[in-house]
Amino acid sequence: MAIEQTFLMVKPDGVERQVVGDIVDRFERRGFVMKGAKLMVIPKELAEKHYAEHAERPFFGELVDFITSGPVFAMVWEGENVIKLARTMMGATKPEESNPGTIRGDYATTVSHNIIHGSDSLASAEREIALFFGEDLV
Ligand code: PPS
Repeated sequence: MAIEQTFLMVKPDGVERQVVGDIVDRFERRGFVMKGAKLMVIPKELAEKHYAEHAERPFFGELVDFITSGPVFAMVWEGENVIKLARTMMGATKPEESNPGTIRGDYATTVSHNIIHGSDSLASAEREIALFFGEDLV
């Protein structure tokens, strides 16, 4: 398995609840390496690009409003199989399906406020890292 990079983002609800430290700690303990990180308020245009694949879904407006409603903590993490393993550590999108011990299973009860976003494929990871960080990685 090749070394991969993925894009992860603690959403505004996670930043507000002060769980950034715990989330970073989980990925460090697993053995992944942080390659980029920044606290930022996402401009609406960037949010619409980031979630473009969901543009036709009924909750798109709500999704963009929420992700731009306060600071997020955007990160790039590197390691073996990190795209898939990070999704496992995050837990399922729907709270009723996210197991205790996962990030969402420990912190989230609502699909629209589910603490963390993570790239779901190599193509998404490359696209999202470029959108948020460009070449700006260590
Ligand atoms: S997934 O993981 O992409 O298959 O999940 P999906 O169900 O397609 O949801 C995509 C993102 O939309 C968010 N979401 C919602 N936001 C607001 N309201 C409703 N009803 C809703 N349903 C899903 C969900 O948290 C996903 O966000 P990200 O940031 O990609 O995890």
